[in-house]
Amino acid sequence: MITFNIASFLFFLFPVSVLAHGFVGSVTIDGTTYQGNIPGGTTNPSVIRQVSTIDPVKGATNPSLNCGMNATEASDVANANPSSQILIYWVGGSTGDSNWPHNVGPIMHYMTKCSGSCSSYNSTNAEWFKISELGLETSDTWYQANLDVKEPANVTIPSNIQPGDYLLRSEIISLQLAVSVGGAEFYPACIQLSIGGSGTGAPQSSEVCRFPGCYTDTEAGIYTPNIYNPPINYTFPGPPVAAFVNGSSGSGSSSGSGTPSAAATTSPTPSAGSQTCKLVSRSSPTGIVVKRGMNLRTHKRRPARRWRY
Ligand SMILES: *[C@@H]1O[C@H](CO)[C@@H](O)[C@H](O)[C@H]1NC(C)=O
Ligand SMILES: *[C@@H]1O[C@H](CO)[C@@H](O)[C@H](O)[C@H]1NC(C)=O
Ligand SMILES: *[C@@H]1O[C@H](CO)[C@@H](O)[C@H](O)[C@H]1NC(C)=O
Ligand SMILES: *[C@@H]1O[C@H](CO)[C@@H](O)[C@H](O)[C@H]1NC(C)=O
Ligand SMILES: *[C@@H]1O[C@H](CO)[C@@H](O)[C@H](O)[C@H]1NC(C)=O
Repeated sequence: MITFNIASFLFFLFPVSVLAHGFVGSVTIDGTTYQGNIPGGTTNPSVIRQVSTIDPVKGATNPSLNCGMNATEASDVANANPSSQILIYWVGGSTGDSNWPHNVGPIMHYMTKCSGSCSSYNSTNAEWFKISELGLETSDTWYQANLDVKEPANVTIPSNIQPGDYLLRSEIISLQLAVSVGGAEFYPACIQLSIGGSGTGAPQSSEVCRFPGCYTDTEAGIYTPNIYNPPINYTFPGPPVAAFVNGSSGSGSSSGSGTPSAAATTSPTPSAGSQTCKLVSRSSPTGIVVKRGMNLRTHKRRPARRWRY
């Protein structure tokens, strides 16, 4: 098999350019849309915590890994329910006029229960549990690439979650520079929810962690030296999706109650804890069609894309 470093190849084809990064422009919850604020701009009432920049958070120990760069509490809280459908619209550019610019790396969603209203909850020491993780959608495309064509990141509130106020943490990790330690770009964002219903589901103590704290800079999934050298074996960082999210009994125990669930089939997504796939680039402007080992081929399902730096 030909060993070929696709990063070098694409570097040659597409010299590195500084492209816009992005933020959560709006969120739609069961059909109701809530606008976010421009990073570093005017602060209007919102349910989305405002960040100070569209640039990524760098480094697994960065305090802004919690809710995004210098995130501040938002004034409002959105009503939601167990099984609510949440559509998170990640946008690009300093005012959100552009599409999300990155397409390599996972989309994950976490939650934490606020102590009191989320509008006045300091989440620095919050314990987060994962409710979904999306990585490779096909052997050659990541779910993240859907955001580049204005599709939202999707997540469903667990069907049996205990009622209460929760932060929903939507996180994109863009791995296009993660061939070096510290290269991963983290884009966390927090949405303030008040969830009704009468569910009983909650994570086990073994399924929660803090931000920063959930990740390290050198773990698989964050430092990905082979991200352009297929086959890709992607391992999601952080804890597994909490067992109660798709538990067989429909009820979970409270955090800290011990006895972690043995259930292994807890992911609500097509992606399990790791994936082994070939990574193939987007359409090549040269029209080169090559197979395994080189991994450039024409990709017609979506508009032409390329790895972005
Ligand atoms: C975040 O806030 C700190 C403290 O106010 C400030 O020094 C820093 O420049 C801010 N970072 C960004 C990217 O806005
Ligand atoms: C949140 O809590 C942390 C840790 O206790 C503290 O350092 C930080 O200043 C608090 N932030 C706000 C906005 O109160
Ligand atoms: C979100 O859901 C919509 C509708 O089901 C789908 O078209 C889209 O691909 C999803 N987005 C992602 C990022 O998976
Ligand atoms: C993928 O990586 C994980 C974690 O490093 C490892 O346990 C697993 O065996 C790997 N799978 C393959 C097929 O290489
Ligand atoms: C929950 O798990 C079951 C059994 O593995 C599966 O059939 C079902 O599709 C899962 N539900 C979700 C929402 O992922």
